[in-house]
Amino acid sequence: MHAAPEMAAAEFARWQKLIEVRTGIHLPTHRKTFLQQALLTRMRELQQTDYNKYFVSLRDGAQAAIEWACLVDLLTVHETRFFRHPESYDLVRSFCRNLLQREPDSRQRSVQVWSVGCSTGEEVYSLAMLLQELQQETGPFYFGVTGTDISYPALASAREGIYHLRRLVGISEEQRATHFQALGDDYFQVVSPLRQRTCFVQGNVNDIRLAKQQMFDIIYCQNLLIYFQNDKRRELLNGLCEHLRPGGILVLAPGEVLRWQHPEMMRIDNKQCLAYSHRGDGRVAE
Ligand SMILES: C[S@@+](CC[C@H](N)C(=O)[O-])C[C@H]1O[C@@H](n2cnc3c(N)ncnc32)[C@H](O)[C@@H]1O
Repeated sequence: MHAAPEMAAAEFARWQKLIEVRTGIHLPTHRKTFLQQALLTRMRELQQTDYNKYFVSLRDGAQAAIEWACLVDLLTVHETRFFRHPESYDLVRSFCRNLLQREPDSRQRSVQVWSVGCSTGEEVYSLAMLLQELQQETGPFYFGVTGTDISYPALASAREGIYHLRRLVGISEEQRATHFQALGDDYFQVVSPLRQRTCFVQGNVNDIRLAKQQMFDIIYCQNLLIYFQNDKRRELLNGLCEHLRPGGILVLAPGEVLRWQHPEMMRIDNKQCLAYSHRGDGRVAE
């Protein structure tokens, strides 16, 4: 890859601000090279060489919105994997068990989950597999897993649910046989009944307060907040809580937020996980 044209400090600050205002993502100075490379990649495709001209092209209008979506995809990190933090999935399983035990009428039993910053879908399908498997223990219940992400290409890939064998790390052979269909050449697709339990929607977590008031039992948000400044993290968490049903849980990745308190949320006593329970109707996770 060619070196990107050097970016002056003032130019960097201008890009930093644009990205933070629009996405919440904070690019510290040590990520200047990353920004330059991302811009260079896109500008080369457009046969542009001037940071300023490209900046102006992102400002207003429909074309600017399309261009912005392309750039955002280059600026976001999509690293993910199935059952990435197993202890958090154990916590979700335990929470759901309790939740379902409390509802004797199987027609009323349902679990709605939101995976925030779902990338290419591994997290959403891990949650869906977990809930599908839990039914063997609890009996039938309705569930749905919604994944949102700012990146359109990541979501397109998530909707297909096709993964190379290399990416099925964390999936047991039994799970592979149950939840995936072999497509050949070491590619596997999540089976249609499980995909039908999922839904992928483009959404910027930074605009959360504008989002439709859909409510969830579990909000699963891992490895997204790390790209935001501490104040922003706390602000986003406050926004997420507004989408949590009373008694629901919010699951983050360990260490992702410090000193966050919310009058309606209680830290779950679990040393391996960072999760909070909505003080509501007394549902508890163990
Ligand atoms: C590192 S991945 C984490 C994926 C998954 N949650 C996991 O833990 O494996 C972070 C994801 O957050 C998305 N993202 C970054 N900023 C976002 C924003 N402002 N709104 C929504 N999604 C965002 C990125 O596109 C990326 O797919």
